[in-house]
Amino acid sequence: MSLPGSFFDALYAASDDPWSMRSRWYERRKYALTVAVLPRARFASAVEVGCAVGELTALLAPRCDRLVAWDVSGAAVALARARTAALPGVSVERRAVPADELPACDLLVLSEVLYYLGPEDLAAVVDRARSAVRPGGTLLAVHWRHRVDGYPQTGDAVHATLRAALDWPRVAAHEEPDFLLDCWTAAPAGDVRAASVAAAEALW
Ligand SMILES: C[S@@+](CC[C@H](N)C(=O)[O-])C[C@H]1O[C@@H](n2cnc3c(N)ncnc32)[C@H](O)[C@@H]1O
Repeated sequence: MSLPGSFFDALYAASDDPWSMRSRWYERRKYALTVAVLPRARFASAVEVGCAVGELTALLAPRCDRLVAWDVSGAAVALARARTAALPGVSVERRAVPADELPACDLLVLSEVLYYLGPEDLAAVVDRARSAVRPGGTLLAVHWRHRVDGYPQTGDAVHATLRAALDWPRVAAHEEPDFLLDCWTAAPAGDVRAASVAAAEALW
């Protein structure tokens, strides 16, 4: 079973930064790696699911003409709106996957959110993500690997599902003891040039 919105509302009622995203070096470094892996300098339209307090949103915004950030928790939406109020092109909405349909986009960021979903909901999100990311677009996923009591899945299980379901060429696969990061280009399997940052600038 996926964790309901009320689970996250309770976390935000107890703290306005439940995962210390504003202060932890672990998070700052991971965010820096996340945005560094993105294969394009800019994206016309991007979607971030599970934006929490908007820290990663704020780092994605300068790379996107339009960035739509979703969170299932109303408290998170308010915090992320405040964090990104001065950033052009950002809108923050109270929406949840898989209940809300992902819009078409050039970049889809799934950071630390999919392990809250049960296997059926995860499969539904992956299915929708496959059609939401436009041809040539980017899907980036990054997730904590260690088991957390009460979470339906681990990050390893999430990335195993993603890797099995997405036959797109991969821009990068980054593995650490604590998290996995995978980035794909929406392109036919085996089209290595589509996923190459160097090829996009005609370096080969
Ligand atoms: C651990 S935080 C991740 C924040 C951010 N993506 C990051 O990497 O820093 C997870 C956030 O996902 C939200 N969330 C959980 N399940 C969700 C769902 N099914 N749809 C949308 N948001 C969800 C929670 O409310 C929470 O704010």
